[in-house]
Amino acid sequence: MTDSLADPHLRYSGTGSPEHSGNGSGPAAPQTGAPRDIVILGSTGSIGTQAVDVVLQNPGRFRVTALAASGGRVELLAEQARRLRVRTVAVAREETVPALRTALREAYGAGEPLPEVLAGPEAATELAASPCHTVLNGITGSIGLAPTLAALKAGRVLALANKESLIVGGPLVKEVAAPGQIVPVDSEHSALFQALMGGTRAEVRKLLVTASGGPFRGRSRAELADVTPQQALAHPTWDMGPVITINSATLVNKGLEVIEAHLLYDIPFDRIKVVVHPQSAVHSMVEFTDGSTLAQCGPPDMRLPIALGLGWPERVPDSGPVFSWTEAMSWDFYPLDEEAFPSVPLACHVGALGGTAPAVFNAANEECVEAFMAGTLPFTGIVDTVAAVVEEHGTPNGTGLTLPDVLAAESWARARARELAARSATATAEARA
Ligand SMILES: NC(=O)c1ccc[n+]([C@@H]2O[C@H](COP(=O)([O-])OP(=O)(O)OC[C@H]3O[C@@H](n4cnc5c(N)ncnc54)[C@H](OP(=O)(O)O)[C@@H]3O)[C@@H](O)[C@H]2O)c1
Repeated sequence: MTDSLADPHLRYSGTGSPEHSGNGSGPAAPQTGAPRDIVILGSTGSIGTQAVDVVLQNPGRFRVTALAASGGRVELLAEQARRLRVRTVAVAREETVPALRTALREAYGAGEPLPEVLAGPEAATELAASPCHTVLNGITGSIGLAPTLAALKAGRVLALANKESLIVGGPLVKEVAAPGQIVPVDSEHSALFQALMGGTRAEVRKLLVTASGGPFRGRSRAELADVTPQQALAHPTWDMGPVITINSATLVNKGLEVIEAHLLYDIPFDRIKVVVHPQSAVHSMVEFTDGSTLAQCGPPDMRLPIALGLGWPERVPDSGPVFSWTEAMSWDFYPLDEEAFPSVPLACHVGALGGTAPAVFNAANEECVEAFMAGTLPFTGIVDTVAAVVEEHGTPNGTGLTLPDVLAAESWARARARELAARSATATAEARA
């Protein structure tokens, strides 16, 4: 086992023993043989629908065997099932099964056999371990941890978009993942993965994680006080689900990504830097010890990292748009304003603490985002409340982390964040009265 979870120099063979693909050995030969079987978790979300697009555009390369969602968009789920001809469809919320069955009957032609339906909170985890080559985890939130662990234990390649599972369960994921078994889908980590092919591990000096800066780049902390959910949901460069969009506005998402980069590539926090780059054209960079910096770039479009995650170690032709290099364009890079956006240093702090601290950070943030969206917590109150919960949690016990530890820490952090957010809402109401 290496210490880095995602290693572009290693190809996971599915037996737990990695195959070395060499360093910068050039493009892989085109795929031959049967299509690769894929399970898509979170198929109705932003990542999931784009993954479905990638599969539909490459029918000879990929075949989806199963889809999982929460149950919020059953018509879309049924339509995806029909178009992909999947064996199984799963929903986490059992009460949505009747509506799903109706939607499936309407989507499928008369007499066409319908897919098997699984339901319940464990359904996505069951599918993660079902027979396939690659599981794409595109679920939102730390609820994605159990499916991540199940896919890894079952020996599947894990195309990982659900960063929260890695962040809250880092040591647990490390324990079960074979070298090369995880292929990152987050655009920054996919960029790092690609740039890391340019040198050996010992030659890496720094990881440079780019950030668009979100819709409030350039504002001071005071100017962030009255931001509304509608303003925070208007991301300048990426079209994503609501939680990650709010996390991009607070830059909590960048903080989570720094922890994710640390866990995936085993680079210490003091050698991972965030660089603000408003155009989101350079998706991240690796600085090597000789002074060379390799950047991966392209127009912001998640289909490219998704296709690389599904097809690795091969590149899927025409996965995403390309820049027109004959037209003038300019890219800017700025240092991060840590006073206006304290979430990144806070994330580095919890990442370095380890143990249950990242789970507390993430769970408190998920609750605070919900309170902000409901209009009961101000924008700056999100990170302030998360920081208070992290502070109260203190330094976690340094010994082996277990799943019950993570779940207990999360449930404490959620309850405490809700209490503090409610207190802040009461104080705001009293101040207005
Ligand atoms: N969107 C992006 O561009 C992007 C980029 C990088 C990384 N990511 C990461 O990718 C993940 C997904 O983000 P997203 O933006 O695609 O989120 P999203 O649009 O909110 O979609 C979330 C998906 O997860 C499903 N889901 C929720 N709970 C579930 C459960 N218990 N079991 C099974 N499925 C469940 C939802 O189903 P319903 O539709 O039924 O609710 C939906 O399909 C997040 O971890 C995010 O940080 C996203």
